Amino acid sequence: MNPIFLDWACTLLLGIITFTLTYVYLDSRKTRALLPPGPRALPLLGNIIQLFGKDLHIALTDLSKTYGDLVWLKLGGESVIVINTMNAVVKSFVRQGRVFSGRPRTRKTVEVMLGDGHDICMNDVGPELKFHRKIVHHFLASQTKQGKDKLTNILHQEAGSFHQTLEELCKSGKPFDPKFDVARVVANVLCQCILNKRFAKVDEEFHTQLRIIQDIVDNIESFNIVDMIPWLEHFPVPSWKRFKKSLAKKDDWMANVLKEHRETITEGVSRDLVDTMLFLQMEATATNNTVDLGRLSDCNIGHIVYELFGGGIESTTMSILWFMIYMIRHPEWQDRIYQELKSKTDESGIPSPFDRGSYPILEACIKEVLRIACVLPVGFPHRTMSDTTLDGYHIPKDTMVIMNIWGIHHDDQSWKDPYVFNPERFLHHNPSERYSYLPFGIGNRVCLGSVIAKMEVFLFCGCLLSKYSIKCPENEPLPDTKGLSGLTMRPLPFKIILEERK
Ligand code: HEM
Repeated sequence: MNPIFLDWACTLLLGIITFTLTYVYLDSRKTRALLPPGPRALPLLGNIIQLFGKDLHIALTDLSKTYGDLVWLKLGGESVIVINTMNAVVKSFVRQGRVFSGRPRTRKTVEVMLGDGHDICMNDVGPELKFHRKIVHHFLASQTKQGKDKLTNILHQEAGSFHQTLEELCKSGKPFDPKFDVARVVANVLCQCILNKRFAKVDEEFHTQLRIIQDIVDNIESFNIVDMIPWLEHFPVPSWKRFKKSLAKKDDWMANVLKEHRETITEGVSRDLVDTMLFLQMEATATNNTVDLGRLSDCNIGHIVYELFGGGIESTTMSILWFMIYMIRHPEWQDRIYQELKSKTDESGIPSPFDRGSYPILEACIKEVLRIACVLPVGFPHRTMSDTTLDGYHIPKDTMVIMNIWGIHHDDQSWKDPYVFNPERFLHHNPSERYSYLPFGIGNRVCLGSVIAKMEVFLFCGCLLSKYSIKCPENEPLPDTKGLSGLTMRPLPFKIILEERK
């Protein structure tokens, strides 16, 4: 080949490469300049190093001190915006609710868990999600309406059962871990509403279900290795095998629940959410409504019901355990709650969750626990559904959105001494002022179970303190306020002893 031609060709190629790289570099700088501020991201790894070794909510809150209300990050290849203040939450999740309500694209764990079906929590915005949210919202609203005999009876029965368990544990005089007893009564309220089932005190089925829920939550929240390296699913990875075994058990259990319901359902009488959904399914079959039939497949009903059951138990139980921890650490508030309960309840000591306004001290303590302990410190991740702007910054479609609830609950511009447990802040609050407070999220994806969760937390915390003071066993350190954090914030295991109030 002619050497002059070769020279020219090489020069041209070099020129094209230099031009392309310079263009890509300048273009990415131009695009980056439009995005919210954030730490410099490394190729491939992104900002994982800045988050490494710290709890996610702490790392994000630290970054907000440098970069402000909105922080732009890269997690591997994923673009992420973190929303750190109530102000920014209102501008995004509330005023641009539709744009900010997607869920991130699925990963292997979620894909395998859902199979051919859809749930609520992981589903993207669309007619199907709207349809499912509406059914569950109407169902739960109808259950929690004042004067509903069914829920009143369930709450009364479970409060009685809780009192009985506490009495036995108090008499034994031994320190105990309250987790299972709390989870059982919480589960029994939810289960009776949702799937007409109640677990006995010693019930292997209940313990199995708790273990399954724990395993599924662990895998979903902290990413299984197969999420990062999907082809590993074809190899005998122990955590993946265990996860799939838990899913199979969960699916069997739910299939059995649906089968039992079908065998015993009576026309026109809905016993629970499962019946309500089965009736809708039958109606869709009768009218040949193929769209609704697709949305009401057995697989979808199973996912939705189990999600409410599992997610509801986990978050509500953790909230009550955090309440116990803060009460042990602040006995002066236990005494104030006791006085309030004594003056307002009858000898049963069971406060009515339909009358929470009459117990301002107990309510203030619960609100403060939900603020400071923050059971879901970064909520569930969202995704932008289209390009948009926020505070003058460009936010591209498909950006993962993290609501830093923990940062918002500990924002020192909104809360005086945010790290101090002080229920007074909820006792003397000017109602026209907006709280920097969203334990249940906000906007289109706000928690569907917040009403029943608040009732349960109030009921069981009230029952406990109406008869007993709770203490830390002698010679043991106070339970830690630093929990095990992932997507949820779990208290570290702790033991308590009960002392009967005279
Ligand atoms: C104290 C207990 C609870 C707390 C602190 C809590 C908190 C939350 C939060 C922060 C979210 C995320 C909102 C978002 O994505 O922006 C959420 C979602 C959700 N919660 Fe709760 N929750 C609790 C109890 C419950 C209960 C008892 C149920 C069911 C009966 C429930 C059902 C749901 C569902 C289905 C979603 C997903 C909503 C969606 O994706 O559209 N939660 N919850």
